[in-house]
Amino acid sequence: MKAAKTIMSVACIIIFVSVILSSCGQKGSNTASNGQQQSSKPISLSAAPNEVQSLYKARCISCHAIDLSGKMGEQTNLQQIYKSLSYDDIVATITNGGEVMQPFKDKLSEQEINSLAAWLSKQ
Ligand code: HEC
Repeated sequence: MKAAKTIMSVACIIIFVSVILSSCGQKGSNTASNGQQQSSKPISLSAAPNEVQSLYKARCISCHAIDLSGKMGEQTNLQQIYKSLSYDDIVATITNGGEVMQPFKDKLSEQEINSLAAWLSKQ
């Protein structure tokens, strides 16, 4: 009896795990086959090009935090900013600033602003 129970629970676990694995696999192939589909993965600084990482660390980290979660509340959370702002919006925000955020047009080159925006908009 005990052995049968153990076999049953092992079988359950195997079925459970394979269901989870197959559904994950499907998700993975969906995103892979459709490059346009945006995942909800947060933007990561370590995935950015080196130039962008140093710009962000020098200019943005003080208000937007190393993990982009923002140090001044939800409005400074940039983790999924690509969902609400386009590349052009982000270029405009960095160039002209916001209510609190200072404009960077005199501090960064156009090319530096463009590469930050490309990274943040996942382009
Ligand atoms: C002095 C603090 C500060 C610094 C430095 C700063 N920001 Fe911001 N940022 C903010 C605040 C605060 C907001 C919210 C809008 C506002 O009130 O200005 C914001 C908003 C943004 C937004 C728009 C978010 C939204 O949802 O509309 C983007 C994109 C952004 N910042 C990118 C950057 C980048 C890139 C840098 C570095 C070049 C940077 N910020 C540097 C404070 C800062």
